[in-house]
Amino acid sequence: MTFLIHTYGCQMNVRDSDAVAAALIAAGHRLVEDEAEADLVIVNSCSVRGKAEDKAIGKLRLLCVAKRENPRRMVGAMGCMAQRLGEELFRLVPRLDFAVGSRAARFIPQVVADLQAAGGRQWVAGDIADSDVPTGHVGAGLSEFVTILLGCNRRCAYCIVPTVRGPEYSRPAEDVVEEVRCLARKGVREITLLGQSVLRYGLLGAPVWPAPAPQGAPFTEPFPRLLEAVAAVPGIQRIRFTSGHPAGCTEELARAMRDLPAVCPHLHLPVQSGSDRILKLMRRGYTAEQYVEAVDRLRAHVPDVAITTDIIVGFPGETEEDFEATRALMRRVRFDNSFVFKYSPRPGTPSAEWEDDVPAGEKDRRDKVLLADQDEIGVAQNEAWVGREAEVLVEGPSLRNAQMWSGRSGQNKIVVFPPSDGVARGGLARVRITRARPQTLYGELVK
Ligand code: 5AD
Ligand code: SF4
Repeated sequence: MTFLIHTYGCQMNVRDSDAVAAALIAAGHRLVEDEAEADLVIVNSCSVRGKAEDKAIGKLRLLCVAKRENPRRMVGAMGCMAQRLGEELFRLVPRLDFAVGSRAARFIPQVVADLQAAGGRQWVAGDIADSDVPTGHVGAGLSEFVTILLGCNRRCAYCIVPTVRGPEYSRPAEDVVEEVRCLARKGVREITLLGQSVLRYGLLGAPVWPAPAPQGAPFTEPFPRLLEAVAAVPGIQRIRFTSGHPAGCTEELARAMRDLPAVCPHLHLPVQSGSDRILKLMRRGYTAEQYVEAVDRLRAHVPDVAITTDIIVGFPGETEEDFEATRALMRRVRFDNSFVFKYSPRPGTPSAEWEDDVPAGEKDRRDKVLLADQDEIGVAQNEAWVGREAEVLVEGPSLRNAQMWSGRSGQNKIVVFPPSDGVARGGLARVRITRARPQTLYGELVK
């Protein structure tokens, strides 16, 4: 069949869709770009906020309507929302053909074959503690994701992730490194290591390393050791990882970021709130002060490190004073970018039992205020780059203006520059920044 996967949600979902696509191709199906051409369309769904679920349901319904035009059309759901709703999805989307749980995606080719042979519909729950990680990748771009940690064992009061992605499981380091080697051989230059709480890699369950770090080794903690091993893979020029938690921002992590040139100076470190009272209700496990200390630890070793974050506004009980504490923390940390989300109660989470008492209009206002604050800080952070040199992984002609080329700095900022001989896609270039815009840096190649 021809097929297409629509992906909502986080990078973990992007990675899962890619692995499913690779498995479907291996089973003889053909990936297409145009939805009208696709016999099989899968929606990889997200559950993190109510709106994300509404979008996926809406999309699934539309896809089912289009069955009228294409009698071969098969529609499936995967990902977090499919996991959360299970068979209930068939009631919400009556003509849905199949749904699979978040850790059962590797069964999709089999499900498709079964339905092709016998018709009907299927819900495959799988085992929420399954640790079989599909390793296929459709292609090999400059940059690829590699999942190192499944699920999440934290119990943040608002978060559906532990329910829909199951318990934390760290892949053996040898498997991760093998996957990276395979990608590097195909020309991949940048790897992003993924996990809901990626710095917890190797802290729980079976040991991820067959043996302890040798005497005198620079790193002994599992995640820094993994960074070191991935950095040693020939061809890998850059390593990113996401998302972090302050508890994982150890001295050793900071040293690894400083001493391993391939490790990018960027960490996405969701703070969620700057109010200790709200952080406690959220069960985040740190205070605002401890969060700042974690950032300071990184900055002490890696002064240029870019810190990005997630913030929730309108958590139950969030007062004006709590909100102002978040604004103050933003000004103190000076994030390079912030993603602001309006609180959305998720069924089954602890905070869903509490009154969602911040009115929608007030959530809106807080959202806009924080975005404006962040814009101001972000512009200043970018302007501070003018006159300095950034290291850029060259991607090729810029989307906006084909005369110019673009790439990303280690800090993950888009950098645009005029091309020159000897600079090729996939190479690392040094660019002197001459001009800063809110979302983009402009500069000239340094010979
Ligand atoms: N409501 C709003 N935002 C949420 N997030 C997680 N759960 C919720 C929720 N119930 C946000 C957090 C997280 C990001 C991926 O989504 O900020 O870091
Ligand atoms: Fe959700 Fe992140 Fe907390 Fe896990 S660590 S429960 S993903 S907010």
